[in-house]
Amino acid sequence: MVELANRIKALPPYLFKRIDEKIANAKARGVDVISLGIGDPDMPTPKHIIDTMAEEIYKPLHHQYPSYVGMYDFRAAVAEWYKRHGAVELDPEKEIVTLIGSKEGIAHISLCYINPGDLALVPDPGYPVYEIGCMLAGGTSYKMPLKEENGFLPDFDLIPEDIARKAKLMFLNYPNNPTSAVADEAFYIKAIEYAKKYDIIICHDGAYSEIGFDGYKPVSFLEIPGAKDVGIEFHSLSKTYNMTGWRIAWAAGNAEVIRALGTVKSNIDSGAFQAIQVAAINGLLGPQECIGEVTKVYQERRDIVINSLNSIGWNLEKIKAAIYVWVPVPKGFTSESFAEAVLEKAGVVITPGNGYGEAGEGYVRFSLTVDTERLKEALQRIKDNFGHLEF
Ligand code: MLT
Repeated sequence: MVELANRIKALPPYLFKRIDEKIANAKARGVDVISLGIGDPDMPTPKHIIDTMAEEIYKPLHHQYPSYVGMYDFRAAVAEWYKRHGAVELDPEKEIVTLIGSKEGIAHISLCYINPGDLALVPDPGYPVYEIGCMLAGGTSYKMPLKEENGFLPDFDLIPEDIARKAKLMFLNYPNNPTSAVADEAFYIKAIEYAKKYDIIICHDGAYSEIGFDGYKPVSFLEIPGAKDVGIEFHSLSKTYNMTGWRIAWAAGNAEVIRALGTVKSNIDSGAFQAIQVAAINGLLGPQECIGEVTKVYQERRDIVINSLNSIGWNLEKIKAAIYVWVPVPKGFTSESFAEAVLEKAGVVITPGNGYGEAGEGYVRFSLTVDTERLKEALQRIKDNFGHLEF
């Protein structure tokens, strides 16, 4: 058999593929598994989006190859969506590209700018695809630790000068996965100044920007003056409109970067199914009450998780946004051993923090994307099996 390419040999199995295997093994042993692992919204896609899809799927025009960079109407809808959010004006022709899920764009952006040996600045803990995309392009990631005492924001002053000079891309993601931390305007201003100083492209992942609690409204990177000069934002309908399975997203911002991403994509894929893009237009510009409804459910689930965990020894503050509760592991456990123990004793899957990078060691992540009654049951099982925990 032909030997695998080194880049594949070096690639770890995708975090949630490993976790899927653990779930399958536990189920095979007869365990009634409740998964608080992957952040995959359990609530349905809003009906008006599905209705549009049901109509559009019959149109023969959509059965042919779509546009490589996405339908103009979809890109115009994205521009309009940003306008309604108070962000910068975007030119649908030059500053927006449709993606088949933002994971795809995040993986491909490194192919645009990273030569073998080049560097990308990557948050740690962070969504694994930032590092994997860079690795597949032959580059190396410099990890920016996100420390709890720093609000899980990177400290740019700690990045050595020679690294900053070499870096080509910097990935940022707020509201953050896995910590659910949020960033304010001042942070983005600093990031943009830093990117200008060292000539680095910022790739901001805004997938969770619409899910804010207790009236909190996350700031969008593209709202900040100068953002478009130095970077792009990846965004998606996945989390906002419960559409992870549809694979529809976009990148928006700097025209040169968007053109580069479009060039790579047109040589690799053939665009997103047009019927999905039309349905997505209705998602972005149609009734938006669904977002408030979904957020209300996540807020209730957040309270269930945080109150339950606090009742058995944790001391957690309420997160302001996103769909994850990131918590330190109790005394005597590592991320892996605690996640294993929770699965073993309670039949509940949580994600070990070290799956998001070395700086995630000592933490686990609870995802809020499971039916509320099952979530309550999961927390009750944890309480019953672990009692009071020491930290
Ligand atoms: C997560 O749970 O971290 C994400 O939903 C995974 C993904 O988007 O691939």
